[in-house]
Amino acid sequence: MPPQGDPAIAVPAMAVPAIAVVVGGGGDLGRATALRFAGKGIAVALLDSSLEGARRTLSEIEATGGRGIALAVDVTEAEALAAAIDTVEGSLGAVTILVNSAGIEGAVEPIVTYPEDAFDRVMAVNVKGVFLAMQAILPHMIARGHGSVVNVASTSAIRGRGGLAGYVASKHAVLGLTKVAALDVGGRGVRVNAVLPGPIAGRMIENIERQSEGGVRRGNAAPVARPEDVATAIAFLASDEARHVNGAGLVVDGGSTLI
Ligand SMILES: NC(=O)c1ccc[n+]([C@@H]2O[C@H](COP(=O)([O-])OP(=O)(O)OC[C@H]3O[C@@H](n4cnc5c(N)ncnc54)[C@H](O)[C@@H]3O)[C@@H](O)[C@H]2O)c1
Repeated sequence: MPPQGDPAIAVPAMAVPAIAVVVGGGGDLGRATALRFAGKGIAVALLDSSLEGARRTLSEIEATGGRGIALAVDVTEAEALAAAIDTVEGSLGAVTILVNSAGIEGAVEPIVTYPEDAFDRVMAVNVKGVFLAMQAILPHMIARGHGSVVNVASTSAIRGRGGLAGYVASKHAVLGLTKVAALDVGGRGVRVNAVLPGPIAGRMIENIERQSEGGVRRGNAAPVARPEDVATAIAFLASDEARHVNGAGLVVDGGSTLI
């Protein structure tokens, strides 16, 4: 069967300069991902509610001769996201890659006492934020017939973790959103995938561990990745080398969810 016309093959082979938006680019994984892109000569827009964090990553990119822009954006605000994408395209050019790496862990508390406001906030940032960022960028990518989105889920998208009701529910939702988006855009030159990391060394896992004292959290101990280990997987999914990968959830956890 010739591949031509197969809707599963999402990205046509064509040379387009890559421009990446990394939402959450001021965080541990966003930073590593942005530096990875910059190392490949890709200009990177760092969108983060922490302008300080986004600027920190930008200065590291610029120190290595890379190019980018840092913008303060709360991913739960649709208008701010749309305005940021316009600013990025005016400054760097047409966005070809979106990485949704903004996220919060929320409370660490058994479900019966898990605070409602913490649940709402985790769902707003981790789920609605991914939804809104895709809504902001996908129309541009579809119109140009080229683009790749990588949503950062977690192994919490495919397993339970005691004490993390909001987080685990949100990451299951991110994987679901990824599959829907992949189907909605597939065959139009745009792909949407997810990466499912296990624990990554950095702020988030340290805070969860701190809050877990007293044994609220239940689950098997998983090996901890370096942010760069996960950034490599994101860079692959974002690249045209993954042209036949659409709607996938790539687990990057050292094998810990196998048992
Ligand atoms: N750290 C881990 O162990 C781990 C494991 C699996 C998945 N993940 C996921 O990876 C992603 C990145 O996590 P990380 O480890 O880099 O954490 P991090 O806390 O270092 O980075 C998260 C970034 O998101 C930003 N952010 C938070 N709320 C925001 C909002 N409303 N709008 C815009 N930006 C906002 C923060 O300012 C921060 O820079 C998250 O989605 C997280 O759930 C992390």
